[in-house]
Amino acid sequence: MIYAIKGINDLLDNDARLYEKIIQVSSKVAQNYGYSFINTPHVENTALFRRSVGESSDIVGKEMYEFKDKGGDSICLRPEGTAGVVRAFIERKMDKAGVVKRWFYHGSMFRYEKPQRGRYREFHQFGVECFNIASVYEDASVIMLLCDIFKELDINYQLKINSLGTPICLEKYRSALREYIKNIENKLSFKFCSDCEKRMQTNVIRVLDCKNENCAKHLDKAPKLSDFLDDDSKNDFNKLQEILKNNNIDYCIDERLVRGLDYYSKTAFEFVSDEIGAKAAIAGGGRYDYLVEYLGGAKSYGVGFAMGIERVMDILKSKDSENIIKNAYFCVLDDEYLDLAYNTVSKLRRLGLSVNLVYESRKLVKHLNSALKENYQYFIAIGSDETKNNQFLFKNLYTSQQKLVDFDELKGLI
Ligand code: HAM
Repeated sequence: MIYAIKGINDLLDNDARLYEKIIQVSSKVAQNYGYSFINTPHVENTALFRRSVGESSDIVGKEMYEFKDKGGDSICLRPEGTAGVVRAFIERKMDKAGVVKRWFYHGSMFRYEKPQRGRYREFHQFGVECFNIASVYEDASVIMLLCDIFKELDINYQLKINSLGTPICLEKYRSALREYIKNIENKLSFKFCSDCEKRMQTNVIRVLDCKNENCAKHLDKAPKLSDFLDDDSKNDFNKLQEILKNNNIDYCIDERLVRGLDYYSKTAFEFVSDEIGAKAAIAGGGRYDYLVEYLGGAKSYGVGFAMGIERVMDILKSKDSENIIKNAYFCVLDDEYLDLAYNTVSKLRRLGLSVNLVYESRKLVKHLNSALKENYQYFIAIGSDETKNNQFLFKNLYTSQQKLVDFDELKGLI
């Protein structure tokens, strides 16, 4: 027997139903905000992610599914969706034309992480990306778009926001943080963990994200990023908070929220939930005003987010006891009625009705038991008595109401 790869799962039955529901709800909400669908490849040149997500990130450093193809090119299964969408935007010269674009996408992402609940090697994201809007109103809109999705799905969350300022602010902050850490190490003879040591060489702000309690404790009095923001970043951050308040969106400021990808500037945010483990991130995003240029395009603004579909599914599963309800079970009591049944079912399906035809003829009680076991709402059978008057035996399995009906009545009942 050959099994599925660790951390890479099938999607079926109730999970598949929830997946479809999440995509449907999210796509509808995104369309309400003016976003339209884009699909980009699962495989891209490795350089795309190295340059955008950043060499210092765990994603590029440890988690990429990177390999050489038969032509010797280094390619990679996408670990996230933003880079591919940015590439598509630049490739169509929309950056040079200054086009405003709002796109949403969904699909598989791949990260070689340690598989555990809510953390998989192939997982799915629903995301949006907006290009060429500098206004912080759009930052608020993508946050509100997510809030609307969660409201529609009945999911509780906590929203954390922060501002990372411009690359200049961040560079000044990095120097101050490095200085602070060196002082702590020298004065208190405290050694930060080996991951933090590496982060100090690559991108020191990641130490703020360290889960090691000792490291976190020694960062309590670290310099604050908010003290390094320029006026423009400060104004935008204040305005963002004002818009959220005016729209009754609760949030908290988390000065340590730096995100795990290198491309962010100004707004950064995360939606977390306690329903699937302590403060698990169910979505995250922010502004990336330098990424398009960084990938070789013309100066273009960008803002977006991605939501982890499996994590949202886990929350829904924990409270969703609803069984899959199937619509109509159609059956024959004798083989000779199968053609008639087939033609009738085809007509009903073309009218937009969901009907399952069972091809094998069986006794009425056997069919009824199957329909009940499989959670159908309606039951329709054809036997000799029914065909005489061009009728069908109809039963509503929820109310037990049963009667003989003709086609016109039947189509109104299911
Ligand atoms: P991210 O924070 O890396 O952001 O991922 C977004 C969400 O994907 C996370 O909040 C989490 O719910 C889910 N996720 C991440 N890794 C896994 C995993 N191994 N298993 C299950 N779920 C996972 C991004 O990917 C950015 N591209 C978001 C963005 C779009 N920023 C701007 N535009």
